[in-house]
Order: sequence, then C-alpha cells, then structure tokens
Amino acid sequence: MPKCIGVGLKLPHRLPISASVYPCSCSYSITSAVGSVPNLAKVLSKWSCGGRAPRRLVLGLGASFWAQLMNMSGAVGGKAFTASARLKSGPSFEEILKNVNWPEQIPYKPEDFQRYDESSDTLFYESPRFVTHIDDPAIAALTKYYSKVFPPSNSPGVSMLDMCSSWVSHFPPGYKQERVVGMGMNEEELKANPVLTEYVVQDLNVNPKLPFEDNSFDVITNVVSVDYINKPIDVFKEMCRILKPGGLAIISFSNRCFWTKAISIWTSTGDADHGLIVGSYFHYAGGFEPPQGVDISPNPGRSDPMYIVCSRKLSAV
Ligand SMILES: C[S@@+](CC[C@H](N)C(=O)[O-])C[C@H]1O[C@@H](n2cnc3c(N)ncnc32)[C@H](O)[C@@H]1O
Repeated sequence: MPKCIGVGLKLPHRLPISASVYPCSCSYSITSAVGSVPNLAKVLSKWSCGGRAPRRLVLGLGASFWAQLMNMSGAVGGKAFTASARLKSGPSFEEILKNVNWPEQIPYKPEDFQRYDESSDTLFYESPRFVTHIDDPAIAALTKYYSKVFPPSNSPGVSMLDMCSSWVSHFPPGYKQERVVGMGMNEEELKANPVLTEYVVQDLNVNPKLPFEDNSFDVITNVVSVDYINKPIDVFKEMCRILKPGGLAIISFSNRCFWTKAISIWTSTGDADHGLIVGSYFHYAGGFEPPQGVDISPNPGRSDPMYIVCSRKLSAV
C-alpha cells in the first residue's frame, strides 16, 4: 500500500479496506457562481482537508482550470452551480456536461498535468496489485452499467479495449468477445485477467500512441485510471482514431486514487470538476459526440461513488 509521504497531507480520514488507493477529494465544497471568476483565495481557503493545508498550496500550483474555464467560457450549462466533492447540492452529475460552453482554447497549463511523483510509472507498477480499487457496490454498479450498454456477449466481429487494465475489467460475468484487449502497466495482472484475449504493456505517459489499427474497436473502457494520464488529449485523440465510427468510449472514476501519481488538476478538484475535466478531454480531442455524464453511484454517501463520462466516435470521422 503506498504511503503519503513528505507533503504535509496525512493519510485520509477513511482508509480503504480492500483497495490500495486513497480518496482523491476530501469533504470540501466549492461554491462558484459561474460567470464570475471564483475568488481563488476563498476557494483555496475552503479547499482544505480537515484543517490541513489546501492541496493546491501543497502542490504549489495555480488553480488554472477553474479560473480559465470559468473565465473563458462564461457559463457551464448557462447556470450558476455548486461544484462539490460529493455533489451534495447543485446540479446532478448528468447536468454538469449538458450544454457546456467550452473555451475555444484548451484551458489547461502544462503544470495541470504534473504529478507529485514524476518517477517512472514502470517502477511504480512493477509489482502486481491483486486488489480492487473501489468497493464492491461501486464495482457492481459499473458491471450493471456495462451490461446495459455493451454489445451482446459473443457478437461476431466485436472488439473491446480495456485501457489501464489490471487483473479485473469488471465486465458482466461470462461476458465474451472474439477480441478483448487489455492495456496496462503490469504483465502479471494482465495475464491473470480472465476476460482478456490479448494484452499490451505500455506506459501511456511515455508513449501515448495506441498500437492498433484505425477503426478497430467497438468499445473502449477505462476504469478509475484516467487521472494518471498526463497527455490526455493525445490519448483521447488516439482513442478516437482506433474506435470504429459510432464506437463507444466509457471512462469511469470514483473519488479514490494513488494521488502521488494522479495529475495535479485531478487531485486538487472534486467529483463535479472531474466530470468536466474528462468531458473536456473528449471535446478537445475532437471527433466525438458531446460527452455525457452518468452518476451510477450506489448508496450515495455509504459506498464509493461511481461516475461515467462517455461518448461515441462521430460516424463521419
Ligand atoms: C487504480 S488501477 C485501476 C486498474 C483497473 N482498471 C481496475 O479497475 O482495477 C490504475 C491502472 O492504471 C494503469 N496506469 C497507470 N499509469 C499508467 C500509465 N502511465 N500508462 C498506462 N497505464 C497506466 C495501470 O495499469 C493501473 O493498473
């Protein structure tokens, strides 16, 4: 289990039982009137973890995402809303991605994609972790969602790609396709994954090019891992290239992560922001339908939340 070291943040208030990841967001709440740039000092003062230093300050980075997105777009869905780590009030997760007025320019700075631990990911994932990173109800919710949107099991010609995969993909029990590729960082984990028909070990932060032909996959999944990708627009462009027209990309996440390995913009924002961030990846990569957010959290407040941001590749690309 990784330790939180040397950055002034102690271990989170709720240690995972079966998981080796920590909650990404604490019980802070950011209220921002969309249309007026939030007062960052105020935001940062609220952005605290149980009285400890705000994450942005700990990481020493500016809150560029919110400032820029709010400043440049002027509106998200045309309404003021509350972005809260647990979405206690304000719009639903679904509403966050409706009618976003995206800034013309990508509203990120290079430092938004920095990680606290910039050492080799290959080293970090060297040893297999045969654990689950979210609790059982969250996994069950994801599996149920997959069973609704996946092509039927054993459909001729269907190919699936599970990116950032491990020993589990959370597919419905017995789900099979002719080709189910797993990409990840640890060969032992991938070898043990029963749904995969093949796998590739590749560090996407070193090489974001996906080693597949154009238009080859019907579905791409990525579970609780999008926050580790530090060249997300390149990766999402690649996802678009390898998806078949109309193919579906499903990015799911909770509020946990190996936070020293997650990008700064993720560790310093809450669940609602994460929906916008992933949505922005689809938008700025291009070639996708407007992204949709789905909240599949089981027992809100009592088990891990689970969110989906998904989109289909445009038919005409
Ligand atoms: C929290 S685990 C999630 C694994 C799996 N998707 C699951 O639901 O259990 C994060 C995964 O992200 C992948 N990952 C992290 N950094 C990566 C990188 N630089 N390139 C490719 N994959 C990476 C690793 O394969 C790792 O298994």
